[in-house]
Amino acid sequence: MRIKWQNMSVDYKNSKLVIESGILKEGRVSWKSPSNIALIKYWGKHGVQLPRNASISFTLQNAFTETIMEYNSQKNKSVNIDLEFYFEGKSNPAFAEKIKKYFLSISDIFPFVKQLHFTIRSHNSFPHSSGIASSASSMSALSLCLCSLESQIFGTLKNDEEFRKKASYISRLGSGSASRSIYEKIAIWGHFGEIETTSDLYAIPYYEKIHEIFHTYHDDIFIISQGEKAVSSSAGHALMEDNLYASPRYQQAYQRMHHLLIAMEQGDIERFGTIVENEALTLHALMMTSSPSYILMKPNTLEMINRIRQFRKESQQPVYFTLDAGPNIHLLYPDHIYDKIQPFIQNQLVPLCENGYYIPDKVGLGPLELE
Ligand code: PMV
Repeated sequence: MRIKWQNMSVDYKNSKLVIESGILKEGRVSWKSPSNIALIKYWGKHGVQLPRNASISFTLQNAFTETIMEYNSQKNKSVNIDLEFYFEGKSNPAFAEKIKKYFLSISDIFPFVKQLHFTIRSHNSFPHSSGIASSASSMSALSLCLCSLESQIFGTLKNDEEFRKKASYISRLGSGSASRSIYEKIAIWGHFGEIETTSDLYAIPYYEKIHEIFHTYHDDIFIISQGEKAVSSSAGHALMEDNLYASPRYQQAYQRMHHLLIAMEQGDIERFGTIVENEALTLHALMMTSSPSYILMKPNTLEMINRIRQFRKESQQPVYFTLDAGPNIHLLYPDHIYDKIQPFIQNQLVPLCENGYYIPDKVGLGPLELE
């Protein structure tokens, strides 16, 4: 039997992060943070945002959120969290409420969130309605801003490793997958027995041991439907609790992580692609076998999958797909075949997209502090 070793010692609760009275603090922090695409999926959670299995992802480059956080002394003393939120330049009270709840939930880690007035402005590089999960980029951008704010006010978190670990931990509390966006290229979140430094509490960077072919991998996102998802990710995670296949699924995720890491270390793109496609279809199979059952794929999702497989067979080019918790297709391929597959993308895939919309993306360098 595998003994599950857990690094549960990290505790960021800190009653010292309180601004002394009379010292007016004001300032501004700003981060650009990317989305990521999971190769082994996190699906099913427990406790406070803890994953049922370890996941690994590519950090993306072109799908990102930019967040500016301005702060000064609290204006409205009668509220716990005092903030205004602007999304794409417009006041957004619904998002503001979500962020207030999130700030309240982490106020034992950052007590100063109850002492300040915040004006937060956020902008995505992709349309909000594009069906692209923005929680990873938006929650990681917000968490990075909070850590920068801590650093600015209290002079803490000066070491980059320490800073990112905390930012990943805080991101996880907002959205599990966001914990992985903190790191460039490739990240693992969740305890995986074969890698001691992995943890359920935060992600770790993991590109150094991975073959360089994956450091510049492409992940083009084809928008099959821009509609709002019928079942949210949090509802989907919750449905895993009573899913008959949950337990074998978590064992399978472990096995797949083992084999995927070998393929990625060796630069074996065929083995990599096979595992990643199976993993995407498993995610959707878990949705179909939940109770109530649901399907997020659309007819054009299946059509695109068939075309990708057919093209791969005929052309012998190593193009594979993955899916998020939605209908859109992510096309994965190495940089050296970029030119060869553009005609296939333009002629066969783009016509299946809603309004012909797709986002060419690739493995990226991680979040960037702005200004
Ligand atoms: O981070 P959440 O709670 O939105 O869940 C993300 C789940 C998947 O995107 C389907 C998989 C993953 O690991 O990112």
